[in-house]
Order: sequence, then C-alpha cells, then structure tokens
Amino acid sequence: MNYFNYNKGTLYSEGVAIKDIASENATPFYCYSSDAFISNINKLKKAFNEISPKICYSTKSNSNLSILKLLNKEGAGADVVSVGELKKSLLAGINPSEIVFSGVGKTEEEIEFAISNKIFQINAESVSELHTINKIAKSLNIRQQVSIRINPDIIGDTHKNISTGGLGDKFGIPFSDVKDLFFNNSSFADIEISGIAFHIGSQIKTIEPFTKVFKKTSELIKEVNRDRQIIKFLDIGGGFGVDYENNTQEFPLNEYVDLIKKFFDVKALKIILEPGRYISWNAGILVTKVLYIKIHGNKKFIITDCGMNDFMRPALYEGFHKIIPLIEIQSTEKISTDVVGPICETTDKLISIDEFYDVKEGDLLAVLNTGAYGSSMSSNYNVRPLIDEVLISKDTYRIVRKRQTFEESILQET
Ligand code: LLP
Repeated sequence: MNYFNYNKGTLYSEGVAIKDIASENATPFYCYSSDAFISNINKLKKAFNEISPKICYSTKSNSNLSILKLLNKEGAGADVVSVGELKKSLLAGINPSEIVFSGVGKTEEEIEFAISNKIFQINAESVSELHTINKIAKSLNIRQQVSIRINPDIIGDTHKNISTGGLGDKFGIPFSDVKDLFFNNSSFADIEISGIAFHIGSQIKTIEPFTKVFKKTSELIKEVNRDRQIIKFLDIGGGFGVDYENNTQEFPLNEYVDLIKKFFDVKALKIILEPGRYISWNAGILVTKVLYIKIHGNKKFIITDCGMNDFMRPALYEGFHKIIPLIEIQSTEKISTDVVGPICETTDKLISIDEFYDVKEGDLLAVLNTGAYGSSMSSNYNVRPLIDEVLISKDTYRIVRKRQTFEESILQET
C-alpha cells in the first residue's frame, strides 16, 4: 500500500499536496502520514488477532512523540532501548505495563528508572546485567518481571549490519547458558525471571530463520516448563522485512502466525512483539531540494540539500530508497547519476542510478519509505540542524518536530 501518490501530477498524502508543505517550510523535512501508521499497526493487529499479543512498537524506528501517541491510541505499547526512549514513551501516555526494555548496555540509572516506573519487562542480555537488575529490584523492593534475551546463534537473511542473532553478535545470552539460569537462580531471588526474548535481526524477508529460532526456543521452553510453568512470556522481537524496491510489505505474516501456533502453546504463553520498521517505513518520506547539478565526464551529480546526517540508511546499509519528484516529470535521462548530499563524505549518497528524471536545480524530490530509521538516526554531523518533521492527518498537517536553530544545536557546548 502506497500512502504518497500522484494526483494530477502532484504528490499527495491523504488530502495534502506535499509541495504546499514545502512552500511553507524549509527543506529538507520528514513528512509522515497518520493514515499509514494507523493502517500498518492495524494490519498487524488483524494478522495476530488469534494470538492477541502485546504489540510493543519498537520506538527506535521512529520515536517522534506525536507518532508514539498516535500508535498508543491504536493500542501499541513500546519496546525501548534507553531511558530516553522510555521517558518519551511515558510522556506519550504509554502505560508502563505495556513497555519492554531491551539493550546490551543498560546503566544502573536506566534500570532503576525502569523498575521504579514499574515497566512490564526488562530483557536481560548478560548474566552481569541480571545481577545488576536483581540488586536494584531488591533495593527498590519491587519484584520486576525479567525475560532472558537468548542469542540463538541463528543468522537472519539480512544485511550483516542489522543481523543480531549470531554468536559473533553482541546481543543476548548464549543459548547453551540459558537453561541453567532458570534452574540455578538463587542469586536472582529478588526478580521474577519468567520469560524468553529474542530478536535475530531486522529486515528479515523470509520465514526460514524464524522457523529455526522457534524450534530451538520451543524445545527449551518445554524443558524448563516440564514440572511447572516457569516461562510465561515469550517476546519474539521484531524484524519483519519490507520490500523497498517494490513498495510492498512482503513479510508473510499469516505464515508467521501459523508458525507461532505450531511451535508454542499460545494459550499458556503470553506473546510479545516488537515491530518497528513494519509500522513506520512507508509512513514517511524525506523532502529535499535539488541545489546544484553538475557533470563529471560521463557522470551526473544531482546535489540535494539533505545529507547523510539527515538520513543514514544508504550510507550505513546500502539501503535502497526510490526518489521521485514532488511534481511529476515525464522525461528521464539515461546517464549514470548519483543523487548526493552536501556532507563531506563520499558515502553521502542517496542513490546511484543509470536513468533518472530530468530534474532541474530548485526542483523538489521525495525520498520514499523513510519513516523507519530516518529521523531517529539523524545527527548534527557537519553542524547541520535536526530538521522539521510534519505529520499529515486527512486534509491538514502539523509540525511535530521543529527544525533546530543553530543556537539550539550548540546549546550544550561551552
Ligand atoms: N527489537 C529489538 C531488540 C531490536 O533491536 C529491534 C531493532 C527491533 C525490535 C525492531 O526491529 P524491526 O521490526 O524494525 O526490524 N537502523 C537499521 C535497523 C536497526 C534495527 C535495530 N534493532 C536500518 O535502518 O535498517
């Protein structure tokens, strides 16, 4: 489903022409569609209906407060990986009982904040972290529910930079060490270790790697729960892949749900999901202006005002994001073209392509499918400001994050 479409040659989302937003605000900016977020979360809710999982939206994919509020209204909780994400989720009104906290390097202060705010679950990623959680829970006299994030040593079919389930990756506790933690847990008497969590990577397009993890995990759960139900929660992470080339949410959700039902007793186990990209990817575009065009021999450079500080995915993961003009252009030019940004890095490139629209200096472009891991990964590199984010809802839009001023960007420096 496409939430940004041409209407008589002008790119629209819902009832708003994107060019009108661009004429009222400086480029570059992120532009989101409420409808897209709402449809995506509801698509997930529908597919998982039978299992009625806790859907904890992975806030790292897009943590704008207004988006968190919007998704919370649709019933989403939050998966957070820092006290910052946790505070934002609470500010957005998400109930602590709907929040899970993952991450390999939680500080004592972060754990203390999480426990004293009575969040649903902490996913522990090392034995040392378990000791820290236990110590803090004891001092606060709160019996925190903790899940063990396992490292199943299974590699998802994805880019190596976003694979997290192999033993060579820093995430989780090695599978072979996990069973013991459920039985010999006298050192963790002040917490409730009653769940398993995993997340084998992001942008996983097929079911196969999940089949392997489910099999391994279900065997472990059976063993641990043989005499009594110790494991009550199963957090299966996020990772559902999407198709950036063809604009489709290709992950086979129904097959995935069948697989969960095949391997796990979903009546006895509460399932938790941590989807990020699937909810936010096609809900956003990045609007940018063509500053200059130049030719180097056989190569054309289209230089835009958005840089890798605004959008990291192409530079970090060779991420493919289609670029289209805000006002439709029929003619294209067959020449090796790089659409690049202003940052002083060779990898500051949005796309390399053999044929591109015959754009002119001053034209406005939309970088598609940038709702996930776009704004949330942006930075001030090259002393550039964090940019506007706008959210469309039906026939109107509002600014949900204002562009930083230069003064704001150096506020903490002395
Ligand atoms: N849960 C945990 C513990 C995670 O680490 C992640 C993502 C998710 C859930 C959500 O995964 P998703 O459903 O979005 O695939 N910046 C990269 C992606 C990094 C993902 C990090 N962890 C990118 O732009 O492709």
